[in-house]
Amino acid sequence: MLVNTLALLRMAERGEFAIGAFNVYNLEGALAVVQAAEAAASPVMLQIMGGSTKRVGRPLAALCLEAASSASMPMAVHLDHCSSRDEIEGWLEAGLKSVMADGSDLDYEANVEFTRDIAKTVHYNDGVVEAELGRLTGEEDGLTIPDYESKLTDPARAADFVERTGADVLDVCIGNVHGRYRSDPRLDFERLEAIERTVTAPLALHGGSGLDDDSVRRCIELGVRKINVNTELRTAYVRSLAESVSAGDQPEFVDVMDRAVAAMRDVVAGKLRLFGSSGG
Ligand code: 13P
Repeated sequence: MLVNTLALLRMAERGEFAIGAFNVYNLEGALAVVQAAEAAASPVMLQIMGGSTKRVGRPLAALCLEAASSASMPMAVHLDHCSSRDEIEGWLEAGLKSVMADGSDLDYEANVEFTRDIAKTVHYNDGVVEAELGRLTGEEDGLTIPDYESKLTDPARAADFVERTGADVLDVCIGNVHGRYRSDPRLDFERLEAIERTVTAPLALHGGSGLDDDSVRRCIELGVRKINVNTELRTAYVRSLAESVSAGDQPEFVDVMDRAVAAMRDVVAGKLRLFGSSGG
């Protein structure tokens, strides 16, 4: 059943769990997420990466919307990380009602301006806007401490940012990174607690791959209601394909795809258990 992102996140708030938001790139990815969610009786989000407009565009939007609509569990379809107004408008036209307006590489006032402007358009289309305050990078190494801290979400500005932009969901940068963690993740829970105290919008955590279970559970206790996972899913997919191909004789194509779906489905199933969303 296709539902509104905010409705899902409010459901997570009431149940004190988090919604898993999984990046999908093709039919196999969408099937893996939907099948895992159905098997676990869990709500879920399918995410399409911003920047993929030219490569996949409307067909992938239609695929994800149909996969969510025909499922029995509540599911939302969301555009992840997009900093282009044109692209966002294109995905809205394609039927998406949930987008991340990513102005995180802008300075504070420019990010407020960009996000507010996109939020108006998205709200006009009955959609939901996620926005980021701080700057999540692919790496945390090699930065001086002041540079690193300046990329984290400033709790003193979080409420102002949400109020002035109209963002419905706020991404927190608390030491989480996209992709692989080069050393053990060190999330700033005090910062998360301070943000949660001032902001009523649901909080989202990016960089859900490679985080230890205790950190994830603590984030959920402290109010995170959406957790993004991309790298672990992609890794499972590529590994499965590599294994199929290196297994010898020309593999049956359908078997290759089915194995890849199963590998991603296992990853999703594990995350849904960890996020506490299984069981309806
Ligand atoms: P990972 O690739 O680290 O799982 O992060 C996913 C993400 O945050 C997508 O926006």
